[in-house]
Amino acid sequence: MNRENCQKALEKLVIETGDWIKQERKKFNHNHIEKKGRNDLVSYVDRTAETQLTEALKSLIPGAGFLNEEGGAAEGNEYTWIIDPLDGTTNFIHGIPIYGVSVALALNQQVIIGCVYDPERNELFSAGLGTGAFRNGQPIQVSQTPTLSESLVATGFPYTWFDHMDAYLNAFKEMLQKTQGLRRPGAASIDLVWTACGRFDAYFESWLKPWDIAAGMLIVTEAGGKVSTFSGSDSVLFANEILATNAFIHAEMAEILMKYPVQ
Ligand code: IPD
Ligand code: CA
Ligand code: CA
Repeated sequence: MNRENCQKALEKLVIETGDWIKQERKKFNHNHIEKKGRNDLVSYVDRTAETQLTEALKSLIPGAGFLNEEGGAAEGNEYTWIIDPLDGTTNFIHGIPIYGVSVALALNQQVIIGCVYDPERNELFSAGLGTGAFRNGQPIQVSQTPTLSESLVATGFPYTWFDHMDAYLNAFKEMLQKTQGLRRPGAASIDLVWTACGRFDAYFESWLKPWDIAAGMLIVTEAGGKVSTFSGSDSVLFANEILATNAFIHAEMAEILMKYPVQ
């Protein structure tokens, strides 16, 4: 299957999965919640969605590997699917309608296709390496905001472990003073695609996993944005931090974040 058809098939799959997740929300209750660790929640919804995606993707590229949030890693050929079946689980569990299905395809660790579907807003974000970024089929672009002082910035707060709290708080303090505001929607994939389509001017967070960011980071760069670690490295997928911006304010943000390392 060529890349274009693969992207189309993936788009259809994430929409099906996201719509199923949204339906499950209606009957979801407290008894369905399981704990993977402190404040690290999961349920049958995450697991079932991941299994459904994985089974369908196996036939799309026979022999591809998997890097899945719930099921772990399975080695394969040069292709790897990177799956977060439900990004924003805490929001989902609490009935906050900000969560997404995030799936990427990597070729030798380079992401070549990324899809994020937001079932609550029926928004499908999709990108292919070198072929642009789209929301529901329409091309998207990052914002043109030229300075940090005019920017709205998204981030994520630590909630499963609390080392480096001072560094986090100091970074937030400076960002609060130097931007038009900070937001913490609660789903990294949504933070990234909202940066890609210009709703946010930038997004930063530490201690994420590849499945949180793989699809969204390609969507940002294909929308004209810049993605790096806080210190400017392009190797972000397996790094512990991500800075994604409209490119104009990247240097200004990196300068602040580098002052407060949380590694
Ligand atoms: C989480 C969300 C959240 C981020 C966490 C992630 P999950 O993913 O993306 O915004 O702050 O670090 O783990 O657990 O809901 O898939
Ligand atoms: Ca996630
Ligand atoms: Ca998840």
